[in-house]
Amino acid sequence: GAPVKVNISKIEPGQQMVAEWRGQPVFIVRRTEEILANLEKVAAQVADPESKASVQPVYVDPKLRSIKPELLIVVGLCTHLGCAPSFRPEVAAADLGADWVGGYFCPCHGSKYDMAGRVYKAQPAPLNLPVPPHSYETDDVIIIG
Ligand code: FES
Repeated sequence: GAPVKVNISKIEPGQQMVAEWRGQPVFIVRRTEEILANLEKVAAQVADPESKASVQPVYVDPKLRSIKPELLIVVGLCTHLGCAPSFRPEVAAADLGADWVGGYFCPCHGSKYDMAGRVYKAQPAPLNLPVPPHSYETDDVIIIG
């Protein structure tokens, strides 16, 4: 498939947009300082904190899983059986617990991911959400693929 150009200028801090690449949803999140700080807090609770077993290009940071810290770009398909995880950015969600710091929740069998798409330990999903190949054409335009 051809690479896809996406204008990301309208994503508010803490929010997500969904693009499409090769028929797959791609989640793009503008992460805040607070979100980035929370990634440190949950590092011991995720299964593959540096994505050693998970899919991501070599040029993304192993922990933040991105080129720029503030912009997360992941394929939005659960690594268990391929459902689309829900974006759950709120902190202390009623259904996800008082210690929930925001991330993704898969409605199919309950896998939880952090705001870097890193799967928590002991979930049905074995791996982090894949980071697709991507680059920046400008600060506001990314190319996926
Ligand atoms: Fe996501 Fe099973 S498909 S937990």
